[in-house]
Amino acid sequence: MTSMKNLNANRRRFVQGVAAGAAAAAFIPGRFAIGGMAKVKVGILLPYSGTYAFLGEKITAGMKLAINQAGGKPGGRDIEYVQLDSEAKPPKATDNTNKLITGENIDFLVGPVHSGVAMAMAKIAREEKIITIVPNAGANQLTGSLCAPNIFRTSFSNWQPSYPSGKVVYDDGHRNVVTMAWNYGAGKQALGGFTQGFEGAGGKVVKQILTPFPKVEFQAYLTEIASLKPDAVFVFYAGGGAIKFVKDYAAAGLKDKIPLYSSGFLTEGTLKAQGAAAEGIKTTLHYVDTLDNPANRTFRPAFKKTTGKDADVYAVQGYDTGKLLVQAMESVKGDTGAQQALIAAMESMVIDSPRGEWSFSKAHNPVQDFYLRQVVGGENKFLGVAHKALAHPAKGCRMG
Ligand code: BEZ
Repeated sequence: MTSMKNLNANRRRFVQGVAAGAAAAAFIPGRFAIGGMAKVKVGILLPYSGTYAFLGEKITAGMKLAINQAGGKPGGRDIEYVQLDSEAKPPKATDNTNKLITGENIDFLVGPVHSGVAMAMAKIAREEKIITIVPNAGANQLTGSLCAPNIFRTSFSNWQPSYPSGKVVYDDGHRNVVTMAWNYGAGKQALGGFTQGFEGAGGKVVKQILTPFPKVEFQAYLTEIASLKPDAVFVFYAGGGAIKFVKDYAAAGLKDKIPLYSSGFLTEGTLKAQGAAAEGIKTTLHYVDTLDNPANRTFRPAFKKTTGKDADVYAVQGYDTGKLLVQAMESVKGDTGAQQALIAAMESMVIDSPRGEWSFSKAHNPVQDFYLRQVVGGENKFLGVAHKALAHPAKGCRMG
């Protein structure tokens, strides 16, 4: 029996085949010019409500900025965006992804932020063979067992930003640590990365605490931490939850007693709201506002000018997604039907990013530097490079 999924996959191949034929004709200069005018359709599945809303907004703005800076017509084609609010809700992810791929017949899929949404989305994207760019969600599986030729990530794997923190905490002299995170893929994988780095260096994670996503009632867990008296605490929280956690940690009287560490999401885009409660927190991440490179020097003022907001790592990930899309479309002169050529071009790209230049690993995940930062005077200050050119181990990734 032919399943709905197979029908969809067949339909997509057919659409792509027709598009390839039309595009091949359209791109003979001077002939079939109308075919070349078709808009390239980009489906965006990101959160615009809930605890991750500002992440989705920053990613979208960053992506559009890069595309507009390049002239707004990737590969010579006008662009149409179809945006859906993922609400960071995994149970809605399958329907939302199908709405974009089958309902809207998009050429590219961009999203999501939440790892649980990513797991559902990637399964469909693999089957439908739609070129997908993941601008945040770190689910390790996307560059492990669920990797695919048509899936690229411009952000990080959940393991990546937390692993370097392990050595940082150990080198700061801490030996017994409590870890804490939201209880879903991203939280557990982030703590896994930290634990590998920290225990590999000789430390011990004495307790791992998992809290329900997206809830922000932390008081009982903070009381437990106070009674455990660890040398330090390492956490994963992001977005609205990060703001609340940092304020609660200080209000519970722990800030000056037990040093708090995290991957950089804890203090990214959140510092104004966290205020003095965030001072002194050390984090590791693939971006720092103050990085002194030409791309960052032009990107930050341009982002501020177009959005009225300060750029952060999410804006950078969106910006690099836009750059990748533009470069990919240029490489095939707008012919989205030439999927093999498109993938080959994307695989070999070097992205000149505000985070520093990076390129894709064989599993289509960034190989990039991770920086050590500390909140000083309301800013994430650059302390040094915590890990140079770190690649996700990508166990279980079989392309093809
Ligand atoms: C995730 O779910 O993968 C994620 C969400 C926010 C920040 C970082 C990772």
